[in-house]
Amino acid sequence: MKLNTVEVLKKRRSYYNLDKNVDVSDEDIKNLVKDVFYYSPSPYNAQNSKAVILLNKEHDYLWGNIVMETLRSKVDDDSKFKRTESKINSFKNAYGTVLIFEDMDTIGELQEKFPSYHDTFLEWSDHTSGIVTIGLWAGLREMGIGANLQHYNPLIDEDVRVKWDIPNNWKLKSQLVFGNILEEPKEMKKVDINERVLIRE
Ligand SMILES: Cc1cc2nc3c(=O)[nH]c(=O)nc-3n(C[C@H](O)[C@H](O)[C@H](O)COP(=O)(O)O)c2cc1C
Repeated sequence: MKLNTVEVLKKRRSYYNLDKNVDVSDEDIKNLVKDVFYYSPSPYNAQNSKAVILLNKEHDYLWGNIVMETLRSKVDDDSKFKRTESKINSFKNAYGTVLIFEDMDTIGELQEKFPSYHDTFLEWSDHTSGIVTIGLWAGLREMGIGANLQHYNPLIDEDVRVKWDIPNNWKLKSQLVFGNILEEPKEMKKVDINERVLIRE
């Protein structure tokens, strides 16, 4: 049986060569993000994942200013920084970024309410971020947009919080960079699926 779900998952890859020539409307992108967050599952229906969509000069500021300057301040050697600089510029060249957060107040309330699951809620919070991430990544690809997943948190957390007025209880988890696809990624080596999925019947 040919399933759309599988077809979309097959097409989702880490796309690093992206530019700004996206031919999908901003409205469609914003609605995708809202729909993915709205329809994704969460522990006890806590709806603990949050997002900020950065477009235009806001996206450029994240990569060209916040990430670039944060990393520059950590690397003394200019020649060593060249490679980092071109990597960060490749993210800046993309169209937009979805910042993915977890609402730690909501997680804290769950921990108080169900103390025997205290540590589990932290794990589940990570699961929830993963669930929305794959929804976004696959949904963008279905629209013809490529994306890659970055983790410059926690280095950039404070600058992001100040710049975009993010509530203190929102913990930054990842940055999903997206844009027009310029190049298909190379095929990845895959482990034999039968070593990963066992069947007992
Ligand atoms: C939880 C998680 C964290 C990841 N973190 C990064 C990252 O920080 N930077 C990056 O370039 N790719 C990151 N990736 C992308 C993986 O490297 C990539 O998915 C993997 O190599 C398979 O390639 P594909 O996405 O093209 O299928 C991450 C993926 C996952 C699922």
